[in-house]
Amino acid sequence: MKINTTTLAKNFIKENLKEGDIAIDATMGRGNDTLFLREIVGDNGFVYAFDIQEEALEATKNRLIENNLYNNVELILDGHQNIDKYINKQIDCAVFNFGYLPRGNHNISTKANTSIIAIEKCLKILKVKGVISLCVYQGGDTGFEEKDAILDFVKNLDYNKYTVIVSEFFNRPNYPPIHIKIIKEI
Ligand SMILES: C[S@@+](CC[C@H](N)C(=O)[O-])C[C@H]1O[C@@H](n2cnc3c(N)ncnc32)[C@H](O)[C@@H]1O
Repeated sequence: MKINTTTLAKNFIKENLKEGDIAIDATMGRGNDTLFLREIVGDNGFVYAFDIQEEALEATKNRLIENNLYNNVELILDGHQNIDKYINKQIDCAVFNFGYLPRGNHNISTKANTSIIAIEKCLKILKVKGVISLCVYQGGDTGFEEKDAILDFVKNLDYNKYTVIVSEFFNRPNYPPIHIKIIKEI
């Protein structure tokens, strides 16, 4: 299989997240990322996961149970823009996989304004050398508003404090997703 945005995100997370760390899955969906993060942080770490759909929480809970990893995680039925209501400690990593629930309702999707509030709140509690991974979709049902708003936001982050790297599949057709890496430097 060809490399895709998920591979870029997973490689970036693997390089930076370790056993005992605290991570946020800001868009739980069917729990693939929650499980991936939970496997890395192990029994001494912790994962907070957010979604606005009950269906996502159920699917993720089942995924974790099947893998004997339904501990050291908190699944939260609320929007990621409210992260500060639930987490008042520093984190090592936050993962966003924007868009709609795969095999779910395409009308329930992340939105530019709440996505940016959530990224801002994660940046505030991110440890130095902590990382944020963003998989951003465009075109089709998703349109361009969210991608444009996120790119505009990350482009304006202070380069002394944050390194931002944008990866795109430059020669692929049909507006492929992009991946954004953010590293907190100081
Ligand atoms: C592309 S899916 C995520 C896929 C997921 N990471 C996985 O591994 O399966 C995007 C998810 O974001 C959720 N979502 C939409 N708006 C949200 C919000 N404001 N806060 C948290 N999750 C939201 C959707 O319900 C959907 O489940």
